[in-house]
Amino acid sequence: MKLIITSLIAALGFAMAQPDASTYITCQACHGADAKGLQLGPNLKMAPSLIGSEYVVGKPELLALIILKGIQKEGADYAGVMAGMEAMFADDQKLADVMTYVRTGFGNTAEAVTVEQAKAYRAQWADIKAPVTRAKLSELAK
Ligand code: HEC
Repeated sequence: MKLIITSLIAALGFAMAQPDASTYITCQACHGADAKGLQLGPNLKMAPSLIGSEYVVGKPELLALIILKGIQKEGADYAGVMAGMEAMFADDQKLADVMTYVRTGFGNTAEAVTVEQAKAYRAQWADIKAPVTRAKLSELAK
């Protein structure tokens, strides 16, 4: 009995540590199932790779900013547009899950994001109403 309870607790703990992978389905449409960016042609991708991206594995608040508010489209490097997904990720747990999923998956080894952190990042960027520019992002990344 004790063993059953112990393994049950261990299994629960493991389940809780795993981010909900279904949250990535949204990103997959453009960033691809392998996170390398969906390839549309020999020289055209829907979106950039999320593997090793400074905005994925770097400061987590910037990843939250990108997901919530999007990136201002300035060039034609990618076919897609990174639109803000604030409504889709209105739930802090969901935001934490997708952030953790991309930061710890696909060979990325950044730290997981807690629901408390996700909540704090949402509050931090509450006043931003438009997609952020690349210039602003690189300034914030310093
Ligand atoms: C409709 C297509 C689309 C969807 C859906 C999408 N993205 Fe993007 N994403 C883009 C495009 C296009 C860019 C490049 C934006 C630019 O520079 O104009 C981008 C850029 C990014 C970047 C910056 C990467 C870098 O290194 O510059 C991150 C991080 C990112 N997306 C994360 C996500 C996450 C996480 C999701 C899911 C919650 C997601 N994206 C969903 C199209 C998309």
